[in-house]
Amino acid sequence: MKVILFGATGLVGQGVLRECLLDAGVERVLVVGRSPTGQQHAKLREILHKDFTDYAAIESELAGYDACLFCLGVSSVGMDAERYRHLTYDVTLAAANTLVRLNPGMVFIYVTGRSTDSTEQGPLRWARVKGKTENDLLKLPFKAAYMFRPAGIQPLHGVRSKTGWVNAIYVVAAPLWSYLARTSPKFMTTSEKLGRAMIKVARDGYPKPVLESEDINAI
Ligand SMILES: NC(=O)c1ccc[n+]([C@@H]2O[C@H](COP(=O)([O-])OP(=O)(O)OC[C@H]3O[C@@H](n4cnc5c(N)ncnc54)[C@H](OP(=O)(O)O)[C@@H]3O)[C@@H](O)[C@H]2O)c1
Repeated sequence: MKVILFGATGLVGQGVLRECLLDAGVERVLVVGRSPTGQQHAKLREILHKDFTDYAAIESELAGYDACLFCLGVSSVGMDAERYRHLTYDVTLAAANTLVRLNPGMVFIYVTGRSTDSTEQGPLRWARVKGKTENDLLKLPFKAAYMFRPAGIQPLHGVRSKTGWVNAIYVVAAPLWSYLARTSPKFMTTSEKLGRAMIKVARDGYPKPVLESEDINAI
């Protein structure tokens, strides 16, 4: 399987990249990001890109892939509403629209989060934006698209969040996350389980398009 990975420098993406590099079934990983991962591996190639709403300049390098694991995303905390909508909806759909045109046989996996609002009508702004992003991704003519909705994610193997306060929460309460990851699959997974589940679903498919934390942990 040849994979394109967005958000490889983040908490989710670092975990996914690690599992892709370890998985013998993943032949090639193309990382598209604005900052380097700092990793070297025979299977890994990176494109540093600036405008995440326009891929015209690198289109020729984005064809021939089986799966996109889209882990680029931001927290809405402290962020202006329009900026959050732009970074969540516009950026994700720009990548997806380009990739589906270049790779009609592609499986697209998007990482959203628990409580995403599929109705797009609920009280939480972030959840409505994520819901619309999911809904519009599911309308695109990919071979298949899957929405992964983890709740908490225990970072393992040196994985760290790019968002300072998220990282602090995970570091300070590490024993609690570890306990929850073992006992509460509805509310906690690990960066390792999430990465492995994304690869398996990209390869083998899944009976439904939206996967909650307990689904991810059961894979
Ligand atoms: N962490 C959790 O516990 C958790 C739980 C549930 C759901 N999620 C969801 O998972 C997704 C990823 O979260 P995360 O925790 O991995 O976030 P993170 O650690 O903050 O990483 C964010 C990633 O997105 C990239 N990015 C952010 N803004 C960008 C921009 N303007 N242009 C290009 N790239 C940009 C970052 O690249 P740079 O390195 O260049 O900044 C980084 O690779 C989000 O949608 C989040 O809602 C996370």
